[in-house]
Amino acid sequence: MEPLLDTLGRTLETLRVSITDRCNFRCVYCMPKEVFGRDYAFLDRRDLLSFEEITRVVGVFAALGVRTVRLTGGEPLVRRDVEQLVEQLAAIPDLELALTTNGVLLPQKAQALADAGLSRVTVSLDSVDDAQFRALNDVDFPVDRVLEGIDAAAAAGLPVKVNAVIKRGVNDDGVIALAERFRGTGHVLRFIEYMDVGHTNGWRLDDVVPAEEIVRRIGAAWPLEPVAAGPDSTSSRWRYKDGAGEIGVIASVTQPFCGGCSRARLSAEGSLYTCLFAVRGHDLRAPLRAGATDEELAETLRGIWTRRTDRYSELRTAETASLPKVEMSYIGG
Ligand code: GTP
Ligand code: 5AD
Ligand code: SF4
Ligand code: SF4
Repeated sequence: MEPLLDTLGRTLETLRVSITDRCNFRCVYCMPKEVFGRDYAFLDRRDLLSFEEITRVVGVFAALGVRTVRLTGGEPLVRRDVEQLVEQLAAIPDLELALTTNGVLLPQKAQALADAGLSRVTVSLDSVDDAQFRALNDVDFPVDRVLEGIDAAAAAGLPVKVNAVIKRGVNDDGVIALAERFRGTGHVLRFIEYMDVGHTNGWRLDDVVPAEEIVRRIGAAWPLEPVAAGPDSTSSRWRYKDGAGEIGVIASVTQPFCGGCSRARLSAEGSLYTCLFAVRGHDLRAPLRAGATDEELAETLRGIWTRRTDRYSELRTAETASLPKVEMSYIGG
């Protein structure tokens, strides 16, 4: 099969699938309560792609070369019977199936997800300080219960990564404690530069803690050495010289990685976005529900990908931060 290339020569390898725009947290930088309150209009159930529709679209993507599918949200585990979706997707050959979650529901769901064929999980956890974590998730959720979720995933045999978004003056004082907590556990902890996603988080460049600073601080406590990362990795990797494992940093603001970006994103209502910072998606639900064949869907996807020009993070300026963009909770990171 001819590899499918966009205008910048990038292949299509990963599909991130948001399966709900709802979440049981109200992280202050993602779903602030002032915006995502009681009156917020979430997607209607009928507007969401069904598990059958998602599986069909993923199958077409897989035939075009996609090798990794990541389920996201909102919080993907709040979608009822999510393990049934995982089971349906796991029937597609040669697909790695990952999931990004806040971990709240992992104690109940980890084993079922693993049994259904999930390959690995990534748990978002921005602080191991209980008071700081409760304030960040803004629903007073205790950190110990997320740590239990991580343990449940590991006990179910799922490889675990932990994602920590670091915001200056909010949780940058907790970087060392996070590193200490996950050193030696086998879980890869990744620090993420706070990004200007959506338009409700009031992002300012001053809020960003450069990845280089994080690596320097952790390296001063426990010496680190670089590990080679793959061509399309979001993170650069570092290994503790004392053998206590690995950390990663995702420097999408200070060291953008658009050059190798092979990720497409499907919203819960079936719109395809070719960049995390895109303003508009391509509606796949309409053709799907109008009876398009797999070959017709594939042709539409080829057309979208071959015309793709996105490289937002490489073009980011103080001005672009205020452009209209999709919300993180809508597109799933
Ligand atoms: P792995 O396959 O485990 O490496 O996962 P990942 O890093 O691709 O995905 P994850 O959901 O763990 O996301 C980690 C962080 O990277 C989040 O803050 C995402 O929003 C961000 N991220 C993921 N993909 C992209 C991307 O294509 N562009 C940008 N700018 N950020 C991204
Ligand atoms: N910048 C960087 N990462 C973010 N996430 C949510 N909002 C932001 C932001 N503004 C993270 C979540 C999750 C991942 C999918 O994206 O914490 O780990
Ligand atoms: Fe929910 Fe994740 Fe957004 Fe927090 S960052 S509100 S857990 S979707
Ligand atoms: Fe890909 Fe857009 Fe992120 Fe660049 S900003 S890495 S093009 S999703």
